[in-house]
Amino acid sequence: MPTDSPRQLAMKSAAEVIVYQNSGDACIAAAERIAGVMKSKNHPILGLATGSTPIPVYQELVRQYQAGHLSFSSVSTYNLDEYYPISPLNDQSYRWFMNHHLFQHVDIPANQTHVLDGTVPASASTEHANQFDRWIEEAGGLDLQLLGIGRNGHIGFNEPFEADLAEAVDLPTRLIELHPVTRTDAGPAFGVVDKVPTHALTVGTRQILKARQILILAFGKNKAEAVAASLQGVPGSNVPASLLQTVADRVVWILDEAAAAGLKV
Ligand code: F6R
Repeated sequence: MPTDSPRQLAMKSAAEVIVYQNSGDACIAAAERIAGVMKSKNHPILGLATGSTPIPVYQELVRQYQAGHLSFSSVSTYNLDEYYPISPLNDQSYRWFMNHHLFQHVDIPANQTHVLDGTVPASASTEHANQFDRWIEEAGGLDLQLLGIGRNGHIGFNEPFEADLAEAVDLPTRLIELHPVTRTDAGPAFGVVDKVPTHALTVGTRQILKARQILILAFGKNKAEAVAASLQGVPGSNVPASLLQTVADRVVWILDEAAAAGLKV
């Protein structure tokens, strides 16, 4: 049970913004929302994120599965991103992460879990990325997309760049070059920044923004600036999470107090 009631912040846009005292309560609330979507659909289609932020969310979903409250047997998952190149056996790969934190603990059939393949030859990466978009579309689109946010405002590995709004919201799944901030932040996990892959495959903004619900989590003071720019700045490609303003009525932000500290209310 959460320790304190969360605060709901009113934004100019229709986005729901909920602030929890601590990230533990926030993650339980996020898991409840995901479980709610899973229970409301015969074949739920989930877009999943990796990184440190959602780990307790997955722990809570595993707990609910082990308690017999939840089944993943008819769920299909599509992960946001994968380093490139990387082997799925590398413990820094996002395929390894998902197996380790969720898939191997629940009853999801392996062929219903989809993670972009960090081993495809570069010459086949566009074809593979296009195919990933097609798979999501053929499955009927994402019922829920879970997101974290980078310190630079990235979502998935859609990094900040210069483009007009129309282009920025319509990016396909593709191979990208990682932003220096992203590589710096991933440095400790790889031991040293030089070992962080220079590239990654990422689901594009087009697919993310089409999800029927988008749940974005941000915790800690390192995220406060990106959160404020995303929610209260002008939407644009230089802060990719600000593009969520274009579909604000389908977006729920789940924050802790530290990540919400930069918001003007
Ligand atoms: C991961 C992903 C990234 C992370 C973001 C935050 O699949 O898409 O956008 O959500 O880099 O990472 P953490 O949670 O480690 O701060």
